Amino acid sequence: MHIKSAEFVMSNSDVAKCPKSRLPEYAFIGRSNVGKSSLINMLTSRKSLAKTSGRPGKTQLINHFLINKNWHLVDLPGYGYAKVSKSSKKVFQKFITQYFSLREQLVTAFVLVDIRHKPQPIDLEFMQWLGENGIPFSIIFTKADKLKPNAITRHVEDYKTVLLETWEAMPNYFITSSSKDIGKDDVLNYIDELNENMKID
Ligand code: GTP
Ligand code: MG
Repeated sequence: MHIKSAEFVMSNSDVAKCPKSRLPEYAFIGRSNVGKSSLINMLTSRKSLAKTSGRPGKTQLINHFLINKNWHLVDLPGYGYAKVSKSSKKVFQKFITQYFSLREQLVTAFVLVDIRHKPQPIDLEFMQWLGENGIPFSIIFTKADKLKPNAITRHVEDYKTVLLETWEAMPNYFITSSSKDIGKDDVLNYIDELNENMKID
């Protein structure tokens, strides 16, 4: 899929105030600092469409971007960032879970996980929660530039082993690097396919 246009639409912390349009929507979620905003910039070939930072906790709101005037990308705050105060952490969790529970336009979520780490309980719990709530998701492994190819394979296999303890099948997954432009076409073609399927339905 060729990205002809990518525009910031709005930021807010209230799912009821998100865009009213019924355009198909794809949301990026994962731990703080995993690379959600960087991935959105890589996918759209825009250097600073979504704001990124080396410090975790950069994205604090639900951010909608309109792509090719016919679908939305959504950049969300990270979960599991210990340094935000307890009360604001609660607010994050509440509006993140409200977003996923209430946003009917959401076609699928992309759960980002850092390829360098062993499967983390917080990510597994979040995937479990999505599953229990009937929300489709794929996994996007990020920062693949940080590992050699055989380590990438090993880490993905570790993930499969852990997920297959609770899931019947390994969810769809993608291996990406925003700094090395890896995995861009795979993710965009997948979104394109889903958008096309929606038209038939
Ligand atoms: P929050 O908004 O704080 O939840 O973080 P985020 O998940 O949006 O992460 P962000 O895109 O801001 O990136 C966090 C840090 O990781 C930044 O320093 C990025 O430059 C770095 N980063 C993101 N993607 C990659 C990648 O593919 N490779 C490498 N090496 N670094 C990356
Ligand atoms: Mg971010």
